[in-house]
Amino acid sequence: MGSMHERIEKNMTLMIVLIVLVVAVGGLVEIVPLFFQRSTTEPVPGLKPYTALELAGRDIYQREGCFNCHSQMIRPFRAEVERYGHYSVAGESVYDHPFLWGSKRTGPDLARVGGRYSDEWHRVHLMNPRDVVPESNMPAYPWLAKAKVDGARVAKHMKALQRVGVPYTEEDIANAPKEVEGKTEMEALIAYLQGLGTALKGTR
Ligand code: HEC
Repeated sequence: MGSMHERIEKNMTLMIVLIVLVVAVGGLVEIVPLFFQRSTTEPVPGLKPYTALELAGRDIYQREGCFNCHSQMIRPFRAEVERYGHYSVAGESVYDHPFLWGSKRTGPDLARVGGRYSDEWHRVHLMNPRDVVPESNMPAYPWLAKAKVDGARVAKHMKALQRVGVPYTEEDIANAPKEVEGKTEMEALIAYLQGLGTALKGTR
């Protein structure tokens, strides 16, 4: 009669069942409390929902796959904090659907890039990154300067976000098409970038 350990190691079905059980319990214990902790569900003071223009920019950020090379998540390590600013906290992301934290860093983290450069720097950089950072391997996005933002679509998106708890007022939604009228996708994306990480005070 082998030990319990030996019996589990030799019986794949039993082992699979036990592994699933351990992972499920571990997951529940680690994840479920996060739904009830204030620090993960309450916005940090001063956090505002994205403006219509910023929200349009956020959609473009996703469409163009910027998250494939840029994370938006500063880890609480000294090297990261010295380079990027205050580490990211959960309360900064409560209005984000979906989260764009990412994990791949071909380029720098962008969680606190807001205000680091001028709008003009971003425009030149997005038109052709090599013009400002000669060794950059980031792609150029010149078409953003020509394409216009679709106002009706932004309003619909805000309506959907309102349903999942983002505090947009009916007025915000009604004004959205006017706010983005005539704006290019480039302007929207830059507005989004310039707002990143600015809600948390004393970060830079
Ligand atoms: C193929 C990978 C890649 C993709 C895709 C990419 N980037 Fe980058 N990005 C980089 C690299 C590498 C750098 C660092 C060199 C530079 O500044 O150009 C960078 C730098 C940046 C910076 C400057 C950050 C800083 O702190 O200096 C911003 C802002 C930025 N990218 C925005 C974007 C946006 C917006 C998109 C999508 C439209 C995008 N990137 C897509 C690789 C990428």
